[in-house]
Amino acid sequence: MGDFKDHMGVLITLKNVGKTYYSGSVANEVLKDVNLTIDEGEMVVILGPSGSGKSTLLNMLGGLDSATCGQITFGEKTVTDLTDRQLSAFRAIDVGIIFQFYNLIPTLTAMENVGLMSELGIETMDPLEALKLVGLEERKNNFPSQMSGGQQQRVAIARAIAKKPRLLLCDEPTGALDTETGKEVLKLLCAQSREDNRTVVMVTHNALFADIADKVIYVKNGTVNKIVKNDNPKSADEIVW
Ligand SMILES: Nc1ncnc2c1ncn2[C@@H]1O[C@H](COP(=O)(O)OP(=O)(O)O)[C@@H](O)[C@H]1O
Ligand SMILES: [Mg+2]
Repeated sequence: MGDFKDHMGVLITLKNVGKTYYSGSVANEVLKDVNLTIDEGEMVVILGPSGSGKSTLLNMLGGLDSATCGQITFGEKTVTDLTDRQLSAFRAIDVGIIFQFYNLIPTLTAMENVGLMSELGIETMDPLEALKLVGLEERKNNFPSQMSGGQQQRVAIARAIAKKPRLLLCDEPTGALDTETGKEVLKLLCAQSREDNRTVVMVTHNALFADIADKVIYVKNGTVNKIVKNDNPKSADEIVW
């Protein structure tokens, strides 16, 4: 597996990236001097304490937030130079995202939630096929309130991967789940990288998740203070938390 990934090449590059939020005349520098690369198909974990800037970093990778300085490239695109319209297309086509609290539409069924992207005119796989990939085809007509947290998160994963994005971003995807259910979700996310060669970037404050990553980006007090490559990542089954 390692050999296969070694020649996949760089998908994302950050050069001297920083982020400052302004509230009136008060500047809050939340990230500075971020330099890193992420390879195509890589399983990346962003690890750090609460408030350290992980979500901000993740959001900048997916064009959901803008960098205040520096350059972000994605394949042949320079994300930091895109117009609003181009950025919107980038997010819609290239980026899938999963959040801690699923963010499903409560009045739509599982299948309708997964089908949302195609309703917006974005090319996707058949919603039922996506639900099958997460093992939930028999739940297709259920509303979010009729499903457990783990099932709702699997629907959110189906929705994110239905459009086959090159980049799958996950912000604390197991944060609201118990260990067993969280593990099922982790396995699905790992499979996206290991089996489908999709680039997966996951934010967590759980240090144990470092073991499943090809690369761990440690964020602390608004800087990336360490990047560690993992030549023998564990499977989600092997970690216990
Ligand atoms: N939209 C925003 N406006 C102002 N400050 C923000 C915004 N988003 C995040 N922050 C601040 O940036 C810092 C990092 O936040 P965040 O990236 O969410 O950290 P983490 O995900 O590691 O918990 C925090 O101090 C937070 O208050
Ligand atoms: Mg966060």
